[in-house]
Amino acid sequence: KVADLKGLKQGQLKLAVITTAKYFIPRLLGQFCELYPGIDISLQVTNHEQILERMAHNLDDLYIMSQIPENMDITCQPFLENPLIVFAPLNHPLSQEKNIPIHRLSEEPFIMREPGSGTRRAVQSLFEEQGVKVKVKLELGSNEAIKQAIVGGLGISVLSRHTLLLDASQFSILDVQHFPIHRNWYMVYPSGKQLSIVARAYYDYLLAAAKNIVEQNATYSYSTVETTQR
Ligand code: PGA
Repeated sequence: KVADLKGLKQGQLKLAVITTAKYFIPRLLGQFCELYPGIDISLQVTNHEQILERMAHNLDDLYIMSQIPENMDITCQPFLENPLIVFAPLNHPLSQEKNIPIHRLSEEPFIMREPGSGTRRAVQSLFEEQGVKVKVKLELGSNEAIKQAIVGGLGISVLSRHTLLLDASQFSILDVQHFPIHRNWYMVYPSGKQLSIVARAYYDYLLAAAKNIVEQNATYSYSTVETTQR
């Protein structure tokens, strides 16, 4: 349609994504911009709690997050797995062990994300469920800072596997019972919101791109169920 094409020639796309999505989304945005060079994009990268805040104030077109808010009227579409795994330094003694009992983690200094982080919440809820009390040695508000601290020998942590994207060779991933914590990334927007032509194009683009990633990499799984939560 002519009107659609016009809307896609120029326009604005405002995205807000959780911190773990920054390892993927900018790269995929590059391809999207090649398809639609007239579109200006703003991308906010922030933690779970701040995404909820932005959504409550209707600041963006689309949101990418891992944990669906329970008391908001939203439409959400899962598009890629986001498993949380146990990171340790390369030469860590546990790196050779298999099927490590989760309670063993309480003997290691632990590095935790900041309050408001969805990763932190998922990790704490698993530890609570399993009665594990870890020794939090350090609290850091950034996945990258946590990775540096792990390499520096300050402790172990649980982070999204996506944060490994470029430097997997610097870490060992511990084989701990109950891990990975299975989660997904979802594209989310308020249910009543009419997506702009540009936002809809991006939504469709991202679904297709995620499907390609899944097909290339059998370790990811993909779900096509669109759910509306009320
Ligand atoms: P976070 O988001 O940056 O808030 O930890 C990750 C997640 O919710 O999976």
